[in-house]
Amino acid sequence: MKKVGFIGWRGMVGSVLIKSMIDESDFKNLEPYFFSTSQAGQKNPEWNIKYKNELLIDAYNIEELSKMDIVITCQGGEYTDKVFSKLRKSGWNGHWVDAASSLRMKKDSVIVLDPINQLSIDEAYDKGIKNWVGGNCTVSLMLLAIHGLLKEDLVEWVSSMTYQAASGAGAKNMRELLLQMGQIYSSVSDDLIQKDLNILDIDGKAMALMNSGNFQKDNFKVPLAGNLIPWIDEDLNNGQSREEWKGQSETNKILSSGFKSIKVDGLCVRIGTMRSHAQALTIKLKKNIPIETINKIISNGNQWVKLIQNDKKSSMNLLSPAAVSGKLDIAVGRIRKLDIEENCISVFTVGDQLLWGAAEPIRRMLKILIKKGR
Ligand code: HSE
Repeated sequence: MKKVGFIGWRGMVGSVLIKSMIDESDFKNLEPYFFSTSQAGQKNPEWNIKYKNELLIDAYNIEELSKMDIVITCQGGEYTDKVFSKLRKSGWNGHWVDAASSLRMKKDSVIVLDPINQLSIDEAYDKGIKNWVGGNCTVSLMLLAIHGLLKEDLVEWVSSMTYQAASGAGAKNMRELLLQMGQIYSSVSDDLIQKDLNILDIDGKAMALMNSGNFQKDNFKVPLAGNLIPWIDEDLNNGQSREEWKGQSETNKILSSGFKSIKVDGLCVRIGTMRSHAQALTIKLKKNIPIETINKIISNGNQWVKLIQNDKKSSMNLLSPAAVSGKLDIAVGRIRKLDIEENCISVFTVGDQLLWGAAEPIRRMLKILIKKGR
């Protein structure tokens, strides 16, 4: 059985990964070893799985890491930057599976999203590639949503306007969002009981708090609750954010085998949802096809696409972060022809940022490696 070293299993993506692995009985097919960057020597977590190591191993110990056939890390980019090259330089020739972005665009790595790029994965594996990296969450979620259209080579370009949840920024940010919500509520809770108080006065009070130095915003730097942030990730100093840049570059790396490349661009916006990213897509199709056919093609894209009828009730109830969070469903709806340009359609899609957006592609990659066996 393959020796698999886990790093960053306690964090948010890591714990979603482990939960899915336990739910899917993945641990029975491998020998797990748990590493820690801060608690080496302490006890393993109390899960009902067969442990190979008694105590947590130091995640910076290159010799210990070298004993693994596969290392899977959800520890983040800083850890990858510190350890990956050292481990490779030591001569280690195992598989490195990573949820962080550091290695994504490197020539000798594959962005893994196997329902879409199994072919790229197989080709790279046969060539001896051993670095497997999960993609940017909005990219993975968008590609799964429009998988059907991609398979039929129908997409000329996509403009993706995102509504990204707090989870994409990290666990601390999710906590901060809830704290901000609580702080706003506490500041006006007495006023809300008084039915005759003017809502504009209540709103003014909430706004004053949000814009004051007393508002909790250490992580987001600005309010997210009751607000939105139209910038995600670094400023590339050309008017584009790094998150927006990833849209086109990662998409086409994922589509590099078996698909034609497509143009992707848009604006990425953080909103006050917890863990599901939504995206409003404008898609220019290569030909004019009836909307019923488009619905059918999108719906048949893959087993996770859940087509939502384009009506008010279905959209409100089924096409939202509240409906999708915690599920592997990729909800896709609001599909209609736009009165702007021939062949342009709108699509709205929502998916769990921590599942298909982060943990699921790497969980599946681990399974693929174990099945391939080398
Ligand atoms: N960069 C994404 C976000 C999450 O900030 O929402 C990771 O893919």
